[in-house]
Amino acid sequence: MQTAVKTNGLSIGYTEQLLFEDLNLSIPRGEITVFVGSNGCGKSTLLRSIARLLKPSAGSILLEGKDVHKLSSKDVAKKMGILPQSPISPEGLTVLDLVKQGRYPHQSWLKRWTEEDTEKVEAAMEATRISDLRDRTVDTLSGGQRQRAWIAMTLAQDTDIILLDEPTTYLDMTHQIEILDLLFELNEKKNRTVVMVLHDLNLASRYAHNIVAIKDGAVFSQGKPEDIITCELVHAVFGMECQVSKDPLFGTPHCIPFGRGRCIVPELRSHTGA
Ligand SMILES: Nc1ncnc2c1ncn2[C@@H]1O[C@H](COP(=O)(O)OP(=O)(O)O)[C@@H](O)[C@H]1O
Ligand SMILES: [Mg+2]
Repeated sequence: MQTAVKTNGLSIGYTEQLLFEDLNLSIPRGEITVFVGSNGCGKSTLLRSIARLLKPSAGSILLEGKDVHKLSSKDVAKKMGILPQSPISPEGLTVLDLVKQGRYPHQSWLKRWTEEDTEKVEAAMEATRISDLRDRTVDTLSGGQRQRAWIAMTLAQDTDIILLDEPTTYLDMTHQIEILDLLFELNEKKNRTVVMVLHDLNLASRYAHNIVAIKDGAVFSQGKPEDIITCELVHAVFGMECQVSKDPLFGTPHCIPFGRGRCIVPELRSHTGA
């Protein structure tokens, strides 16, 4: 396995209190890795620190063997793009201008805007189905449209490594699948390394080659969904009772939560807790 990103004895947090201590995590190159874990466990913090948006208290993050904090931000941005959770765009910015920002790392005083930049921007808007929204200002879009505009910006950056924090939040089911299919295709056809945070364990199991389950500032488990997603893991990581079976279409782990609700088969009522 080749490693795209590696954390080396990484400690990160916000104030005195560290969220992760001495974390050693390897993210395989050319695969889709999904971080899962309960709210507040540190998924965004970890993703942001990999993207060099947070400075570690100790340890380092290696991008292709090089310490990201010793590289320039432009050099990092040419290799790795990030879609943060709830990104904020300047007021009045149009969709087209936002997506064009993705090309920023590829420009310099020697290399101005080229035909290639236009092509990448158009392709990213096409892939996320926002070409028609190009002249709208980002702050007037619906949550889902805005999310797709940000994803387009990240794709326009055209990096080998793509980090996305909850890219499917705000999206209806059709658009969730469309975005995940798109990332899957980028991985399959262009060998992009995708690292994302997802909440839906069933979709995570379908799309991820590698799942990193995070709990209490540590990696609780890491591996193929079919090897690690069990009701014991779901209970330990999320504190939830569930049944894990196979996705009827994909054969991947399919987690069905217990809880209340309308159980319409009397014989099943004792199992469901309804
Ligand atoms: N900018 C910040 N300053 C201080 N604490 C923060 C900040 N961002 C997140 N936290 C805290 O760090 C913990 C992990 O947050 P986060 O990484 O956003 O979790 P997740 O993405 O898994 O829901 C939470 O307790 C959260 O309140
Ligand atoms: Mg988060």
